[in-house]
Amino acid sequence: MKEQLITKKEIPSELTVKIEKLSNLGLGIAKVDGYVIFVKNACPNDIVKIRVGKKNKNFANAEIIEVIEPSPNRIEPFCKMQKVCGACQLQFIDYDAQLKIKKEIVQDTMRSIYGHDVEVRDVIPSPITKEYRHKIQYPIGQTKDSKRILAGYYKTGSHELVNVKHCPIQPAYCDEIIDFIRNNGNITGYDESTHRGELRHVVIRTSYANKKSLVVLVVNSNKISNSAKELCNLIFDNFENVSGVGINFNDKKTNLILSNKTEIVCGQDFIEENLCDKTFKVSVNTFFQVNPLSADKIFRYVKNYIQNNFDKPTILDAYAGITAFGICLSDIASKVVSIEEVKQSVELAKEVIDDNEIKNIELHQGDAGDFLSNETALGRQFQITILDPPRKGCSLNSLDYALKLTEKKIIYVSCNPATLARDLKYLKEHGAIVEYIQPFDMFPHTYHIENVAIIDLKNVQIPEIKLPY
Ligand SMILES: C[S@@+](CC[C@H](N)C(=O)[O-])C[C@H]1O[C@@H](n2cnc3c(N)ncnc32)[C@H](O)[C@@H]1O
Repeated sequence: MKEQLITKKEIPSELTVKIEKLSNLGLGIAKVDGYVIFVKNACPNDIVKIRVGKKNKNFANAEIIEVIEPSPNRIEPFCKMQKVCGACQLQFIDYDAQLKIKKEIVQDTMRSIYGHDVEVRDVIPSPITKEYRHKIQYPIGQTKDSKRILAGYYKTGSHELVNVKHCPIQPAYCDEIIDFIRNNGNITGYDESTHRGELRHVVIRTSYANKKSLVVLVVNSNKISNSAKELCNLIFDNFENVSGVGINFNDKKTNLILSNKTEIVCGQDFIEENLCDKTFKVSVNTFFQVNPLSADKIFRYVKNYIQNNFDKPTILDAYAGITAFGICLSDIASKVVSIEEVKQSVELAKEVIDDNEIKNIELHQGDAGDFLSNETALGRQFQITILDPPRKGCSLNSLDYALKLTEKKIIYVSCNPATLARDLKYLKEHGAIVEYIQPFDMFPHTYHIENVAIIDLKNVQIPEIKLPY
């Protein structure tokens, strides 16, 4: 790394810089004699005049005053809200360049956290780049004087609500439902600062497979009010493709959107979605990938990889959600064992397994680390373990026990390159070999990227497990 030759005092508050690359949070990186400046809404190779904000010892954040010479990859964003809404940070960069940038972000993250170069393959694009996002969670507020309902996204880095009338990355049907909620019913919008008002969020899950939607109103209460019930009925009666409407009760001062208490007022409490030619049931509280078409690519990729390299292996599906991997892989495995902590996900998986008369899957509910530790005590072994944890990555004991339980390969699926790199470093320290990483673009126009890492265990020294963690 280039030594820093300049101190923060010497950085002027306005200057012209060339953007070198993007950070893992999608910010442009410019360097002035080694001093790093993160620039919002910048594209690699832009030459921009910037205004520098608060200067820290080694870095500062900045905003563009003027694009002096745009990168050839700069385009007009297709959403007029792109600059104010924080959701699509890269929409002003052409799609092929976005894919190259994301590959570079994964490579840079591996170099800095994992500590070595790893083979990172070209990013597999999303089959669609608009209307791909099939789960929306709109915070709700209201205008001060006229008390009109506001629904949209927060401005980047703030809790200032942007009223979004049309979001091109979501199914257009969701805009219609949200607009209906804005203009109908007799419900008040939530005010975070006073913890008053009834409607906090609207969550909509829409099936790509059959276009049906499940709508859930998150209310600041622990019981159903007449106004909330009336709004549920109005939505159900006015939208043919809405197959269920419910209320989620969340009266806590919290950033968590959903509590675990949901009551369905009309219709069904799930939608159906397809992966690898199998039909899954997805409810409001269960995890399902936001981009079903990109998810299908990932599941087929993992299935092909296993089919080409193994004959009817035993598979452990850890952090399983609705056991999407386990169910997709059941017809090429001798046995699948899955572990997931959310009860409702396990119950929905059981329904799908029973409906399809799948006989070789064993479902478990609980903490992945605890479960893997019990399995180790029982002496069970799997040829392949799939680890697909949330953004914070795997717990240390999950990694330790996964190394103990798995004979051949770990397939690590991750939506966060930083925690993936940290966990791969730990696995490598115990002899695992990261063969390569295959990124998938699950989230076009954002800096987010999904990765599948293939890890070989032939040289593994089983770690000494020190409890408790
Ligand atoms: C990224 S999702 C993956 C789900 C699934 N593999 C899929 O692709 O649909 C992570 C899952 O891990 C579950 N989870 C989080 N922490 C867990 C833990 N400590 N033990 C077991 N499951 C956990 C979450 O509920 C969620 O369903």
